[in-house]
Amino acid sequence: MPQDLIVGLDIGTTKICAVVGEVRDQQLDIVGLGSAPTGGGLRKGVVVNIENTVKAIRRAVEEAETMAGCEIRSVYAGVGGGQTKVIHSQGIIAIKDREVTPADMDRVIDTARTVAIPSDREVIHTLVQEFLIDGQDGIKDPVGIHGVRLECKVHIVTGAVPALNNILRCANRASLEVNGIVLQSLAAGEAVLTEEEKEMGVALIDFGGGVTNLAIFAENALRHNFVLPVGGNNLTNDIAVGLPTSLTHAEELKKHYGACLNALTDPDELIEVAGLTGRDTQTMPRSRLADIIHMRVAEILNLVGKEVQRARFSHPLHSGAVLVGGTALVDGLMELAGETFNMHTRIGYPMGVSGLIDVIHDPSYATAVGLALYGFRGQQKAQRTPDRWSGSNRSYGRSSGGGFMAKIKKWFREVV
Ligand SMILES: Nc1ncnc2c1ncn2[C@@H]1O[C@H](COP(=O)(O)OP(=O)(O)OP(=O)(O)O)[C@@H](O)[C@H]1O
Ligand SMILES: [Mg+2]
Repeated sequence: MPQDLIVGLDIGTTKICAVVGEVRDQQLDIVGLGSAPTGGGLRKGVVVNIENTVKAIRRAVEEAETMAGCEIRSVYAGVGGGQTKVIHSQGIIAIKDREVTPADMDRVIDTARTVAIPSDREVIHTLVQEFLIDGQDGIKDPVGIHGVRLECKVHIVTGAVPALNNILRCANRASLEVNGIVLQSLAAGEAVLTEEEKEMGVALIDFGGGVTNLAIFAENALRHNFVLPVGGNNLTNDIAVGLPTSLTHAEELKKHYGACLNALTDPDELIEVAGLTGRDTQTMPRSRLADIIHMRVAEILNLVGKEVQRARFSHPLHSGAVLVGGTALVDGLMELAGETFNMHTRIGYPMGVSGLIDVIHDPSYATAVGLALYGFRGQQKAQRTPDRWSGSNRSYGRSSGGGFMAKIKKWFREVV
């Protein structure tokens, strides 16, 4: 695998997706994509069957390798918000020369990171929220500012060790090394949000198959992450039970004719619904399908909306909402989300890359593309300031836990 290839591996509830990027002219050129159904390997974003997950990873990676004409050896993998917890912490130091230097910044972040982490959890990210100098808050870049006391507020994202180990185990069994584990919503944000949106405040909602994830970005940092264990699979189940029909046919109907009620132009349109074994095919109004979808989608949007409103108290969301994930493709969902949240809402398509942009033009590839972009941007920063990024590239919202990753990689090399 050439040094300049960066691969994102999104291990989702319904599909595993590998995106291959090649670094060219300081840009990430997408050269390959592979996607395979997870086949029961995961449940609500959590690995529940190693064999099936490994098989799906292999298939997705092989497909991406064929398209890119390369061999994939290492990946940036995602971890779902459901397996992570955030610890709020604060560090304080005296400013040595009365003017903040990059070394002071590193030192105060290190101090903020020095909190007791339960033994069953590992640090994935240290996300700087803000700096304070002599009590003055809201400082993003303190370097060069005069003062006596430097403080830093951070969110430490930790992951459950068994969940992280399962991700690593699956990747390793598929003959892949893991360069870094990244929170999925942080990765998706890299791919679909502009710097301005992240600065002005935006709600990024990932409507996946097993879960729905809400991430709030404001003043250029991830401020809040909320996971609802309901997703597109619940829509499929509701359709299968409500019509009734098989799960496979319900999934097809959802993708081809599914809509939220307000998206339907012809209320009299009819669809054919294959009956369960031994029962006849029935003709019914498409609005019946929309009715079922609407009920579940409205329920999810109301729950997410409550969290969005709560977040708005602390962070004005001037840039509205951005929707990603396969379920964001349900006709009319974007409009219904806009109405429910009472804010401008758009679908998030991956951007900020070149190459096969048509192939990745799908909101369900946001996380996989974002993982590759996250790895790419982290490597760029490491090259620009190697002294501050050596080893664990630990601060400024980048992947951390280098010690843990190194330990695990070594361990897997020894046991696999
Ligand atoms: N065109 C479409 N219309 C409606 N639903 C769709 C469409 N395409 C995909 N979906 C649904 O999107 C869901 C999969 O989305 P996605 O690929 O983002 O999930 P995932 O990453 O595998 O799962 P999760 O993020 O929950 O772990 C499935 O429920 C699928 O039925
Ligand atoms: Mg997903």
